[in-house]
Amino acid sequence: MVDDEDTNAAVWKTDIGVNFWKSTADDRERRRAGHRVLMAELLPFAAAEPFTFLDLGAGTGAAARTILDHFTAARAILADFSPQMMAQGVVELAPYEGRYTYVEFDMTRPGDWPGQIPAPVDAVISSLCVHHLNDGRKQTLFAEIFERLAPGGWYLNYDPVAPPDPVVEEAWLRAGDRRDPAAADKRAHPTPEEQFRYENHVRYMIPLDPQVAFLRAAGFEGVDVFWKELDFVIYGGRRPAAATPGA
Ligand SMILES: C[S@@+](CC[C@H](N)C(=O)[O-])C[C@H]1O[C@@H](n2cnc3c(N)ncnc32)[C@H](O)[C@@H]1O
Repeated sequence: MVDDEDTNAAVWKTDIGVNFWKSTADDRERRRAGHRVLMAELLPFAAAEPFTFLDLGAGTGAAARTILDHFTAARAILADFSPQMMAQGVVELAPYEGRYTYVEFDMTRPGDWPGQIPAPVDAVISSLCVHHLNDGRKQTLFAEIFERLAPGGWYLNYDPVAPPDPVVEEAWLRAGDRRDPAAADKRAHPTPEEQFRYENHVRYMIPLDPQVAFLRAAGFEGVDVFWKELDFVIYGGRRPAAATPGA
């Protein structure tokens, strides 16, 4: 990690950051519920099959909860580096007591996976956090996920992406501004706090194509963009299944 690296701690390891996250949760989760359900639908397990999945940058557990709802015997390992987000998550995950464990994990640190994260895991998900990592770390993280997945295990990532060129950016903004008529004004006149959060949000955000290429380079197969709307995407792939003896 280089000295001037933005580790996101100033946003996420603060009470102010977490209170902001909580205060916007209802509206955000209403918009994202369907996207989170698609991540569950993409996983290859039967409804009552036991399996363990890892949620990286799990925050308060919104993505993990959707998967626990869909698969009644699933167990979740929720990894995050923010004590504040994990404390709020324990409150929100009360109905899932016994089916999940929180693990403190700083994803910016290559190869530093805590022992409480079991290996292998049957699936890995991440949502709204990989864009916080620089490009080198995105690549090493994808390789580490691949190594930790059971053969045939899927990794799915739900994230915002940067526009690949200015024309695309203009189209995304046009559509977004029609949906939220206050958006253009908010963009033009941010408060210092909003500007700070925005800069953290976009600092390491890159377009979609290189991220899909990073997954393929890490060895994943079945790589696809399973859903996309404007700047939000769900992409992923699976670790190839073990070869059948004699095949
Ligand atoms: C936008 S929230 C998303 C939370 C959750 N995945 C969801 O979809 O609701 C981003 C999360 O990433 C976590 N995060 C940011 N940087 C991290 C890092 N370097 N290591 C681990 N977690 C990190 C934050 O603490 C926060 O919980």
